[in-house]
Amino acid sequence: MTLHRAIPMTNVLKAPEPNNENLPQSPLLRFYRSPIGKKLISGATGLALAGFVLVHMVGNLLLFVGHDAYNAYAEHLASWGVLLYAVEGLLVGIALLHMAVGGSVFVGRLRARPQDYAQYESVGGTSYQSFSSRTMIITGAILAVFLGLHLWTFKFGPYYPTDLDGQPVRDLARLVVEVFHKLPYALGYSGVLLGLGFHLRHGVWSAVQSLGALHQGIRPIAYGLSALLAMAIALGFGALPWAIYGGLVG
Ligand code: HEM
Repeated sequence: MTLHRAIPMTNVLKAPEPNNENLPQSPLLRFYRSPIGKKLISGATGLALAGFVLVHMVGNLLLFVGHDAYNAYAEHLASWGVLLYAVEGLLVGIALLHMAVGGSVFVGRLRARPQDYAQYESVGGTSYQSFSSRTMIITGAILAVFLGLHLWTFKFGPYYPTDLDGQPVRDLARLVVEVFHKLPYALGYSGVLLGLGFHLRHGVWSAVQSLGALHQGIRPIAYGLSALLAMAIALGFGALPWAIYGGLVG
């Protein structure tokens, strides 16, 4: 007869937990990992991206003026040469950092509170919880996927040559018009722009608040203004696909 000796399972299976806190960390990494650092990085990178999106939206409106105006604007940017590459590189870096922080805050929250609250109730004072704030990870993910497809369609899309004041340039206006004559593109862009609107609606307000620019008294005004800005950007972008599809711009 064999005798089995009881072995305490806890001692056998438990591997030592890695303790990152004891590892040497640079001040920058410590800042990135701290909750306040994440808020500040997310806010600053988010505002920089919102600034780009606003400028890009206004630039797109030039197609309402005409093909030449649109192509001239694109050509003017292209003439920046190395500086444009630097700005684009910076933009990619900012976008990646923004996504990394957003993703890590979301995962951190999931770990801390795996089950979402069934109801969102304010514990006193005005609650700034909204559909926008609760769907930031979803609208952010939609925008990330959209960006890849968007660059593929336009930036790395077909090169139609034309000339402007006797100079050979890329006919981006023709490409944009060609794309938005297709209903799936006009519809798809409208869906993404709705997501962009919601993302900016909470993002801009939250970023300004995180960066400390919101005095308690002006909060409701800032909250309203960020909604207005988000709507203006989404509608400003959205006008072009439907104007093209409807034959107003061509
Ligand atoms: C109707 C809506 C839009 C139109 C017609 C449009 C059009 C374009 C075009 C033609 C380009 C290529 C520019 C070039 O190669 O010189 C471009 C680039 C780009 N677009 Fe859009 N866009 C729209 C919406 C958006 C939105 C909503 C976002 C972001 C959320 C966005 C982000 C970008 C980025 C990051 C680039 C690359 C810029 C660069 O590399 O310089 N676009 N867009």
